Amino acid sequence: MKVAIFDTHRFEKEFFEKANINFQEALTFFEPRLTEQTAKLAAGFDVVCSFANDRLNSKTLSILNSYSIRLIALRSAGFNHVDLEAAAQLGMKVVRVPEYSPYAVAEHATALILSLNRKIHHAYNRVREGNFSLDSLVGFDLHGKTVGIIGTGKIGSVMARIMSGFGCQILAFDIRPKIELTEKYNVKYTSLEDIYHQSDIISLHVPLTPDTKHLIDEKAIAQMKRGVMVINTGRGALVDARALIVALKGKTIGSAGLDVYEEEEGVFFQDLSDQVLQDDVLARLMTFPNVLITSHQAFLTREALTGIATTTLKNIREFDEGRHLTNEVSIRGKGPAAHN
Ligand code: NAI
Repeated sequence: MKVAIFDTHRFEKEFFEKANINFQEALTFFEPRLTEQTAKLAAGFDVVCSFANDRLNSKTLSILNSYSIRLIALRSAGFNHVDLEAAAQLGMKVVRVPEYSPYAVAEHATALILSLNRKIHHAYNRVREGNFSLDSLVGFDLHGKTVGIIGTGKIGSVMARIMSGFGCQILAFDIRPKIELTEKYNVKYTSLEDIYHQSDIISLHVPLTPDTKHLIDEKAIAQMKRGVMVINTGRGALVDARALIVALKGKTIGSAGLDVYEEEEGVFFQDLSDQVLQDDVLARLMTFPNVLITSHQAFLTREALTGIATTTLKNIREFDEGRHLTNEVSIRGKGPAAHN
């Protein structure tokens, strides 16, 4: 099949090419993100392969439909950027990669916790400048601290295991609790309020849905322990970035590790180093010494990239052969279990 891959980055191309040895699809890599403006690049292709920050609204989908594109193969777990109703009305199928490496994301969340706590980002710069002072680098033992995990699906479960390895007490909230986490890692399921009141670290692992949008807002923050560390490797809009700034200034939130940001589309994944940053909220967040931002890189391991490429090509093969689409996203199937 002729596959147009949008928003291609150097880091992923080799993984697609390697996985494709077993599939032999005709892959064409395009750098632009898929939007209404770039959709015309899909003319003459059978399948469009899209990434997390593409814009698959009804207009983009209508343009793709006019080129007879029948399959949208998302190379992400998340599909909150796709108008599924419009796709269904146009008779387009949407498939995704529901799982690649939960370890990649949970380990990155852990890296954010450790770096923020032990101030590795400051220490690295200091030592390079010949400043060997330890002043203001004091952290805390993770051992014995309380970690609140919101969302204990694939990633949250790995996070619980890792944090339990550090000797942390784990509180969790999920609409579908997992008994095995309680049995294996002593995870205590409780209410969000309890998590806010008791946690020293809060890590977010729920998908972005209307229910979870701005889960961490002014009201939630007001219930948190003073100095709490908030880690978001889920989706940017789980956190109200403006409320976060107020809380950081007032020191209610002691530190924040953000791999995702509400308005990351068009910014994250891009080299904008020679441009003037237009987003004042992001610019403000970047000024805090106790905020560590990575640009949606939690998934970025060799294992995850291999998994993403292989599953995407398998999804396309199933469609080509008219088989059941294992990883189809339909409006009916749309639910809390799905997203990236
Ligand atoms: P999952 O589907 O395995 O787990 C999500 C969990 O959230 C489920 O247990 C579900 O019951 C729970 N949940 C859903 N709605 C909820 C609600 N309203 N309240 C409480 N719990 C709720 O998903 P997975 O693979 O663990 O991914 C979790 C998050 O990680 C997602 O937000 C996803 O977008 C993000 N992600 C981020 C990546 C990155 O590179 N930063 C890469 C991959 C995923």
